[in-house]
Amino acid sequence: MAGEWRSLEPRSWVYLLHPRPVAVIVAGTMERYSAMPASWIMPASRDPPVVAVAIARSRYTYHFLARLREFNVCILGVDHLRSIHMMGTVSGRDVEDKITWAGLTKTTAKRTKAPVIAESLAVIEAALDMVVEAGDHDIVLGKVLEAYVREGVEPGDPASYRVPLHIKRNMYTVPAKTVFRVQA
Ligand SMILES: Cc1cc2nc3c(=O)[nH]c(=O)nc-3n(C[C@H](O)[C@H](O)[C@H](O)COP(=O)(O)O)c2cc1C
Repeated sequence: MAGEWRSLEPRSWVYLLHPRPVAVIVAGTMERYSAMPASWIMPASRDPPVVAVAIARSRYTYHFLARLREFNVCILGVDHLRSIHMMGTVSGRDVEDKITWAGLTKTTAKRTKAPVIAESLAVIEAALDMVVEAGDHDIVLGKVLEAYVREGVEPGDPASYRVPLHIKRNMYTVPAKTVFRVQA
């Protein structure tokens, strides 16, 4: 693409790395917990399995995560987008039982004390391993304890789990159905 380079506002460069899949991070216990959507999430190691998520220290979810040193990553389909977004607009400090408040169902995890969202297509349970201070967010590294999916969900096949991708603010998209196969 020709033309001059245009400098970006200091806060807007992050969206060069969007859209990104959104997962809901849940930390705490069945009685006291919080849950928040996070799009700054990624796999950090395959062996050993490590998941990384950048979380602002002010999040109530982070408070529970740091105290109990474990968390769940709940991956929901785009049909639950409204509930996902709701959980990202209010802190668990201001609403009780945030998952239920957002119209979803709480259930128990296999290994952690934190709730799992029953409507999830996929769940990753993780134990807090390390925290790297990045700036206004910390990078939380979690050792994957368990990872499981619903029947019909095939990791790496976007057609089998339509997760919302966060563009910015209240804007989302879904993965395109087009698959480009590159011949090496
Ligand atoms: C789509 C979406 C993605 C978000 N991604 C992140 C993220 O990666 N890290 C983060 O710290 N906050 C992120 N947030 C903001 C938190 O979800 C939001 O502040 C939430 O209300 C925190 O809830 P809590 O205080 O109960 O933990 C995101 C919000 C939305 C709507």
